[in-house]
Amino acid sequence: MSLNKYSTAALAVLVAVIATASANVSAHTGATGIVKERMDLMDRIGDAMKVLSGIFKREHAYDADAVAKSARTIRDHAGTAMTKLFPEGSANPPSVAKPEIWRNWKSFKALAKDLETYSAALADAAPRGDTPAGGMPSGPAGHGMMGGSMMGQGMPGSMMGGQQAPTSDMLTVMPPRALFGHVTATCASCHTKFRTEKHEH
Ligand code: HEC
Repeated sequence: MSLNKYSTAALAVLVAVIATASANVSAHTGATGIVKERMDLMDRIGDAMKVLSGIFKREHAYDADAVAKSARTIRDHAGTAMTKLFPEGSANPPSVAKPEIWRNWKSFKALAKDLETYSAALADAAPRGDTPAGGMPSGPAGHGMMGGSMMGQGMPGSMMGGQQAPTSDMLTVMPPRALFGHVTATCASCHTKFRTEKHEH
């Protein structure tokens, strides 16, 4: 196994995100108006994530332009572009959005903003290239030179809703692979909190 602890965790989350995405393929049936608009938005960022995951799972060669382009797609659909499609109380079927969104609007908004921040940083980082397979500075225990400590703080932080998030200085030096982990964790974190598991309607 050449994946270190960090990337294994990130990929596990990613697999979950994509699996959920495919399970929801038929979710559009009957969706209209703003609910359809945000499902379409989520699908567009889901497609961008598939391109990124193919690269970071090393199924495809690293391609800085493709990484930057997909990251920008996500960035452009995050933040207020995303939250404006969630007007108060718009959780009627077939939407699987939870009403908690409007009781915790600040936290929902913060996750949408985190997604914008991390995907923008990933777009900027794309030319930095990927770490070579098996060449990560951190060992199996995850305590490496730069990667280990940063990732150790960053990953659980964003999974818990943004505490201990990397500072903006850190974002400008992080490798694309680590930023991709943050993007993935942000998708998963918002879905866990604010989206029901399956369609119960
Ligand atoms: C700020 C919260 C938030 C973030 C961040 C977020 N999502 Fe979502 N996502 C939702 C909610 C809520 C729904 C359910 C929308 C509905 O059914 O009305 C959803 C639905 C989806 C769907 C299903 C769309 C459909 O056809 O029903 C996909 C695919 C998806 N998200 C992918 C992603 C990916 C990939 C990311 C990260 C790049 C992401 N989302 C980030 C909140 C979020």
